[in-house]
Amino acid sequence: MTPSETFSALLRGNALLTALAPMQDVTTLQFMRVVDRYGGPEIYWTEYFRVHGDSRPEKWILDSITKNPTGKPVVAQMIGNDIPALVRNAKLLQKFPVAAIDLNLGCPAPIVYRKCAGGGLLREPQKIDAILGALRDAVSIPFTVKTRIGFESPEEFDLLLPIFAKHAIDLLTVHARTVKQMYRPGVRYDLIAHAARELKCPVLANGNVFSAAQAQQLLAETGARGLMIGRGAIRNPWLFEQIRVQMRGENIKLPVGRDVLNYVHELWDNEITPGVRESAQVQRMKKFTNFIGEGIGEKFLHDIRRVATTADFWRVCEEYLNHGEPMALAPK
Ligand SMILES: Cc1cc2nc3c(=O)[nH]c(=O)nc-3n(C[C@H](O)[C@H](O)[C@H](O)COP(=O)(O)O)c2cc1C
Repeated sequence: MTPSETFSALLRGNALLTALAPMQDVTTLQFMRVVDRYGGPEIYWTEYFRVHGDSRPEKWILDSITKNPTGKPVVAQMIGNDIPALVRNAKLLQKFPVAAIDLNLGCPAPIVYRKCAGGGLLREPQKIDAILGALRDAVSIPFTVKTRIGFESPEEFDLLLPIFAKHAIDLLTVHARTVKQMYRPGVRYDLIAHAARELKCPVLANGNVFSAAQAQQLLAETGARGLMIGRGAIRNPWLFEQIRVQMRGENIKLPVGRDVLNYVHELWDNEITPGVRESAQVQRMKKFTNFIGEGIGEKFLHDIRRVATTADFWRVCEEYLNHGEPMALAPK
């Protein structure tokens, strides 16, 4: 089966769907490989391909599709607002083994939304209508959307849902915050439930999923077909497997400190770039430990943010993680 056939079969089935959220500079080929060793999700997403004028899909993002080490479907995400460019890139991407083409309607970075791309498009429902119409015609494999619930206000969500329905998208992921809300508290899971009721396509719930018990409750509460998880999976790569265990009604075995230490070692081994300066390598690892640290504690975060050498990096990791105590790895 091709990746898009596998993905279509997953959509048609009724088993729980889990996905690793697209994360710029994180969800690389290397990170997908590590996460998959811990069980991983059913579906992966690329970080967004930036689409404009005469852009072509970025080589380093294409690598996570062409060299996909997981054997699981990878969805290619695009961000942009130039319709001919989006159509051209969607056609180019379909020449690669992608599971689906996804449009980003959520990026809250001011540099993106001021150009009316990503989350910025949520201010222009008519433009979204035109983009989805053009992409629906250009995409012969599944076509999906990842959205926030509005730009300024959650009330905007009611205007968006009929547009998604009109273009018969194959799956909607809802990060249940507004663009203006960025990552602040107050995730509107009730609006994910609303989308799941209103739309015929499967809906993935996204935003602040950090434990298997909470995931189970969220699925029950929203009626979503599945979950997309970002930061929670960086913190806790066991999370997808823990959720499957929880859904089977079995007991979850938490990793202990030394398991987490091994995970950080695996990240290091995967992320290491031969010839790169030591400080740059340590800096790269901080991208991950900044998230992992939220599940370890304030003191660890304080200490790891200040290290500059490899020796100090491992000294701090050993100090906090070389133990046999179980770790929930939820934000503290
Ligand atoms: C470092 C980082 C990079 C991200 N890059 C993308 C991206 O390329 N495309 C996208 O749709 N969302 C991106 N997001 C948003 C996530 O996919 C996700 O919607 C958000 O983090 C909420 O889910 P979580 O609470 O499970 O992390 C990014 C988030 C983070 C933290």
